[in-house]
Amino acid sequence: MLKPVEFKMPPQVEKMRSEGEIDGVLYYLEYVLGKIFSIGSKEYYDNISSSYAKFCKGLKEIKKFNKQRGKNHKLKFLDVGCGLGIKPLLAKFANFESYGIDLNPDYCAIATSLGIEVECVNALEYQKYNLFDVIYWYLPIKKPLKEFDLELKIFKEANSGAILYPICSYLPVYGCFDHWTGETREGYNPTDDGWCIHEWETGTHSLGNTVSRFFYKT
Ligand SMILES: C[S@@+](CC[C@H](N)C(=O)[O-])C[C@H]1O[C@@H](n2cnc3c(N)ncnc32)[C@H](O)[C@@H]1O
Repeated sequence: MLKPVEFKMPPQVEKMRSEGEIDGVLYYLEYVLGKIFSIGSKEYYDNISSSYAKFCKGLKEIKKFNKQRGKNHKLKFLDVGCGLGIKPLLAKFANFESYGIDLNPDYCAIATSLGIEVECVNALEYQKYNLFDVIYWYLPIKKPLKEFDLELKIFKEANSGAILYPICSYLPVYGCFDHWTGETREGYNPTDDGWCIHEWETGTHSLGNTVSRFFYKT
């Protein structure tokens, strides 16, 4: 049985955290994570939309946005396909109540050892999307049609006050087609269901243009 890791931040960083200074904490965490995963230069990594830095900027934007609309309570954050639990861990440091789900029991055990509340479950069968304030995902399912089904399920089942924060999305307005099986999906545009888009940053990267955005309802 894995035991939760005691993660202690240096006092200066802990002070920044308690004062809500996500940027300072983020800088420190990037340094630590960089050491653990031997990720490349900060400049390169910063530009990938799934990077820790961009993700944390998103969390900051979500907090600001919710504060502006009068939601000051501790937000429940869910990572759909949380893997090792790094993103929920970052959310926890940023004072979210963090949860994750993943299909892989080994990943779930590691995420649990980081102190994250994780359920080992198929995201396509998960029944509790309505319980969260923020639902984040980064292409959990490699098969486009299944990913499409999952994203559609989340958009349909999430609470109307929730923020949906996908790093990438398989919900093209034009629909989805599997070249191997011939199976198709009708296009789905979240705005038809009342979801609005909030964008806070655009950028370019060798992998293509990046847009940082989340969905919300008014
Ligand atoms: C690309 S990783 C994303 C990791 C993490 N969310 C992040 O942003 O760094 C995709 C994760 O989704 C999980 N996954 C794949 N299919 C799934 C399913 N049907 N239900 C739940 N998790 C799934 C995988 O085990 C993997 O950990």
